Amino acid sequence: MLFLQVALLIVFIPGGDSDDDFQEPISFRTILTTSFYNHSWTQNQGSAWLDELQTHGWNSKTGVFFYLQPWSRGNFSKKELMKQERDFQTFSITFPLIFQDHVSQWQLEYPFLVQVVKGCVLHVGEASKGFLRIAYQGSDLVSFQNTSWWPSPKGGNRAQEVCKLLNQYYVVNVRIEAHVNEVCPRFLLGLLDAGKADLQRQVRPEAWLSGGPSPGPGHLLLVCHVSGFYPKPVWVMWMRGEQEQPDSQRGDVLPHADGTWYLQTSLDVEAREAAGLSCRVRHSSLGGQDMVLYWGEEGLVPGWERVVLQHSKRAR
Ligand SMILES: *[C@@H]1O[C@H](CO)[C@@H](O)[C@H](O)[C@H]1NC(C)=O
Ligand SMILES: *[C@@H]1O[C@H](CO)[C@@H](O)[C@H](O)[C@H]1NC(C)=O
Ligand SMILES: *[C@@H]1O[C@H](CO)[C@@H](O)[C@H](O)[C@H]1NC(C)=O
Repeated sequence: MLFLQVALLIVFIPGGDSDDDFQEPISFRTILTTSFYNHSWTQNQGSAWLDELQTHGWNSKTGVFFYLQPWSRGNFSKKELMKQERDFQTFSITFPLIFQDHVSQWQLEYPFLVQVVKGCVLHVGEASKGFLRIAYQGSDLVSFQNTSWWPSPKGGNRAQEVCKLLNQYYVVNVRIEAHVNEVCPRFLLGLLDAGKADLQRQVRPEAWLSGGPSPGPGHLLLVCHVSGFYPKPVWVMWMRGEQEQPDSQRGDVLPHADGTWYLQTSLDVEAREAAGLSCRVRHSSLGGQDMVLYWGEEGLVPGWERVVLQHSKRAR
C-alpha cells in the first residue's frame, strides 16, 4: 500500500504517567498441543513462554528442549533441566493416551486438538499462582486448582467426565500442585534474574503518520504508527491540543521478530478538521517525555525544538 507522503514534526513534552503504570504480572508457561488424527496417530508440539516471548522450543521426536534465549536455562542445573525434559517427554506420551482411550466415552471426533497449558504467574508483591488448563478444539475444557480438576462452565458433560477421571489420580495431582507452585515460580524467578538485562531493556519507538484508506467522501483516516518499542505497554492517542480524541481506534499490539512491538492507532475525521490534530505517544523508554506527531500541511509550525522525518513508502 502506498501511504500519503507526510511531513511530520516530533516534539517531546513531559508525560503524565509514572513508571508504576508499566508493572504487570508476569507468567511462565509450557504448552503442549496434541493433534489427534485417528486412533493410532497423534502429533505433539511443545514450547515454553515468558509472557509473549518464547523461551523454549521442543523436538517432539527426541524430546529435547531448545533454549531460544541465552538465559533460557535460568538458574537451573543441567541435572534439574534434564529432569524437566524427561517429565515433559513422559507427559507428552502418556497424556494423549488418556484421550485416545476415551474417544467414544467423551464423544471426541477425529480430527481434534487438545492443548495443555501449565505454568505460574507472579504478581508484584504477591505470592505466585500456579495454573494448568486443558482446552479441547480451542475451548476451555478443564482447569486445575488446589490439587483438583474443575470443569469449565462451557465444557458441558464432557468436562465433567474428564474431571471425574483426572481427579482419581491423586498422586499425580499432588505432583502437579508441587510443580506449578514450587518448581515453576522458582524457575521463573531464576529466568527473570538471568534475563534481566534483556527483559528490562528500554527501546524507544519510531513513530510516523500516514493516511489510511478513505473512510468515505470528505473524510480522512489518519493513522499513527508506533514501531520497534520495548517493553510492550504503550499509550497512543489522537489529540486536539490537550483534548484526547475518544474516537481514536487502537489496533492490536503486534510483535516484530526481534521481540519489539508495533501499534497503529487511527482516527476517522472530516478532511477539513484534520489540521491541528496530533498523535501522542507515551512509553517508558521516553523518560517521561511524550512523543507528539502533528498532522498538518507541509511546513508545519516553525519555532519548535523538533525532528522532521520524511517517510514516503512503508510496506506493512
Ligand atoms: C491415521 O492417520 C495417518 C495420518 O493422516 C495416516 O497416515 C494413517 O494411515 C491413519 N491410520 C489409520 C488406521 O487410519
Ligand atoms: C484447598 O483445599 C484444602 C483441602 O481440601 C482446603 O482446606 C483449602 O481451603 C483449599 N484452598 C483453596 C484456596 O481453595
Ligand atoms: C534460582 O533462583 C530462585 C530465585 O532467586 C531461587 O529461589 C532458587 O533457589 C535458585 N536456584 C535454583 C536451583 O532454583
